[in-house]
Amino acid sequence: MQIKEILQLSPESQNVVVKGWVRTKRGQANIVFINLNDGSTIKNIQAVVEDGGIDEETLKKITTGACIAVSGILVASAGSGQAVEVVAKSIEVYGTADETFPMQPKKHSLEFLREKAHLRFRTNVFGAIFRVRHALAFAVHKYYNDNGFFYLHTPIVTASDAEGAGEMFRVSTFEPNSAPKNEDGTVDFSQDFFGRETSLTVSGQLEGELGAMALSKIYTFGPTFRAENSNTTRHLAEFWMIEPEVAFYELEDNMNLAESFVKYVIQYAVDNCKDDLEFLQNRLLEEEKSKPQNERSEQTLLEKLSFVVENSFERLTYTEAIEILLKSKPAQKKQFQYEVGWGIDLQSEHERYLVEKHFKKPVILTNYPKDIKAFYMKQDEDGKTVRAMDVLFPGIGEIIGGSQREDNYEKLMTRIGEVGIDPENLWWYLDTRRFGSAPHSGFGLGFERLVLFVTGMSNIRDVIPFPRTPKNAEF
Ligand code: 4AD
Ligand code: MG
Repeated sequence: MQIKEILQLSPESQNVVVKGWVRTKRGQANIVFINLNDGSTIKNIQAVVEDGGIDEETLKKITTGACIAVSGILVASAGSGQAVEVVAKSIEVYGTADETFPMQPKKHSLEFLREKAHLRFRTNVFGAIFRVRHALAFAVHKYYNDNGFFYLHTPIVTASDAEGAGEMFRVSTFEPNSAPKNEDGTVDFSQDFFGRETSLTVSGQLEGELGAMALSKIYTFGPTFRAENSNTTRHLAEFWMIEPEVAFYELEDNMNLAESFVKYVIQYAVDNCKDDLEFLQNRLLEEEKSKPQNERSEQTLLEKLSFVVENSFERLTYTEAIEILLKSKPAQKKQFQYEVGWGIDLQSEHERYLVEKHFKKPVILTNYPKDIKAFYMKQDEDGKTVRAMDVLFPGIGEIIGGSQREDNYEKLMTRIGEVGIDPENLWWYLDTRRFGSAPHSGFGLGFERLVLFVTGMSNIRDVIPFPRTPKNAEF
């Protein structure tokens, strides 16, 4: 049985075996307390070794980090803090850990733990984060399954840059120094493994659209890769994205789906990760104590999560948002680092002003200028904007990006020409606009940004087991 299950039993002096990693051992003259954790829950189980119950030799090997199996009887605990404990009759030591084990029972900085990513799972905070991450992933599949969507596996290796931003990692079997060349000196990719230039995907959307044009409602949930040199607390080079794509949806339907989906998965975590979220909330409260009063958050983590679930997201156009920003105090006082004006790509300072200061709730911005958005977005009648939507969250900024798609073949071809994409490479994508085209929409949710929001963590490197960022692929 896992510790989570054992902690729920009523103690009747029954025999139990608990296996886990030692968090602490406290010894007194004639009694020793061992706290064990097996990751099934944030709670430890206490094993009690009564005078002479276990031989000295074995007891010596039991230090923080060691892995042991305790056989004993389950009794009501005399101490406070736990309902039950195990009185040890015998202990098997699976693996010892000496004093160089880095996760000693004291406070470690998150920076330190990032350098020990292979062992940080064994701390309370990372145990909590990865259990919450799991619950959110499960909730994603549950939401879409319950709503008639099909999970579509789109390829990781691709020849197309869906977002057109040119931030791709090359996939090749060529030796870097001896790649075959064309006459003009460029690399001859026709001789490469796939017979063409290929990369890791930045998005499953384009293939997702092909699926939606037959299955109607699909979603992807997979790793995506971006070779953008952004060393921020919100960017990873490898991150997971959920991309639903739905035939017959227009922008409004797309917004409704995004809002209902995000609220569902957050509520799922609140309902299923109570202990972990309370732990993370207390961690934040501790952290807040060291901040000046005016920088402390007005809401606890759980209040913030309920607030998002219970309130409707504010919806407005990009143009309306620019007007608000132009009239805002920081713009008037020239406090924004980047100047505001129609046509700019909103910076995170602008997004955060709208969400955290002006509306004080999640915001969905729509109808962005076409020049700052990808080629596939449906063009508005005004010829200037497209049916884009970004969902902005407090403390995070953009958590979702999506749009209604251009379903008109001619308009799409014109746009592809304008942005300089070779239509030859996208013939298969363009075919959906030639054969039974239909209005359709979709979006991408950055999974780690969601986990960041729900756990209240502040660095995206702490919510994925092994972060990939510029100059960092150690583990
Ligand atoms: O806005 P993006 O680039 O949109 C797309 O990729 C579309 N193809 C989605 C679609 O319509 N199907 O990315 C979507 C989301 C962002 O809103 C953000 O949450 C996340 O992916 N994201 C990142 N997360 C972590 N690290 C990065 N470098 C990210 N880039 C985007
Ligand atoms: Mg985006």
